[in-house]
Amino acid sequence: SHLKELIQGIPKTELHLHIEGSLEADLMFKIARRNNIELAYKSVEDLKKAYKFNNLQEFLDLYYLGAQVLLHEQDFFELTYEYLKKVHQQNVVHVEVFFDPQTHIERGVPFSVVINGIYNALKKGEQEYGITFKLIMSYLRHLSEEAAFKTLEESLPFKEWIDGVGLDSSELGNPPSKFINVFKASAAQGYKLVSHAGEEGPKEYIYEALDLLKVIRIDHGNRCVDDEILVKRLVKEQIPLTLCPLSNLELKVVQKLEDHPVAKMLDKGILATIHSDDPAYFGGYMNENYYETAKALNLSTTQLKQLAINGFKASWLDQEAKEKHI
Ligand code: HPA
Ligand code: ZN
Repeated sequence: SHLKELIQGIPKTELHLHIEGSLEADLMFKIARRNNIELAYKSVEDLKKAYKFNNLQEFLDLYYLGAQVLLHEQDFFELTYEYLKKVHQQNVVHVEVFFDPQTHIERGVPFSVVINGIYNALKKGEQEYGITFKLIMSYLRHLSEEAAFKTLEESLPFKEWIDGVGLDSSELGNPPSKFINVFKASAAQGYKLVSHAGEEGPKEYIYEALDLLKVIRIDHGNRCVDDEILVKRLVKEQIPLTLCPLSNLELKVVQKLEDHPVAKMLDKGILATIHSDDPAYFGGYMNENYYETAKALNLSTTQLKQLAINGFKASWLDQEAKEKHI
């Protein structure tokens, strides 16, 4: 269709992608077999039938279960390289990838195994496809700040490969304020700061992420629309919101895509961008997120191009690289 071709033709950035959430069911089975791990599901079809979520936690339970097949450097490499292959076909030219070290360290997989696999695949993707990249280490907010501090410590030998830190996992009951000290320490190490906020949690978590953690970008941030003063501030300071419409739909953050706030956010001047979060679980990569959102909200060509331009503006590319696209 015309819309699909238009979206395909726009160079895009992926700024909100959990690499563990790009583990497709068939690759999960392949790696499980290789590692002699028995999955709780008989087949790919069986597993995919379980991909029905009423909220964030129901998804996270399955996402952490799936990640248990990842043991060796080769597993993390393959996961990441398969992802890059896919998005290269979607005209994604720059990625900023989250990984969750604690999900793996807790199972006895060394930090070095996780990051070597991911980083080597990102390097190969850059050489083969020209996809530039940044890497963001996410702290799991359902765990303690002390655990996050240990992770920060373990990351330091690989500091040159890591561009920023984020905060993900179960949002309700785990406000940004729980992680003030570790974010401060992370900034002192030169890491850039982002945080998930206002996905399931209230708008107050967005304020906390900005004022207490000092993040430069908000992941999701849907709930800002509840607060005109906050919206004005996001516009004035041009704080990017990395929105994930299909994720929001699958996790019931919105009841239908027609209710998604992205068009209103663009109208207000918010630096909103569209991404895929956990594409293997939510049924869509970048182009599918653009396409379904465009259809539901009747987005114009100008709005779609604006979303992509916002992606470059919100990225951590240097000014020269950004200007090729904005
Ligand atoms: N929200 C919070 N944590 C996550 C998500 C999400 O959408 N995806 C993977 N970890
Ligand atoms: Zn996310």
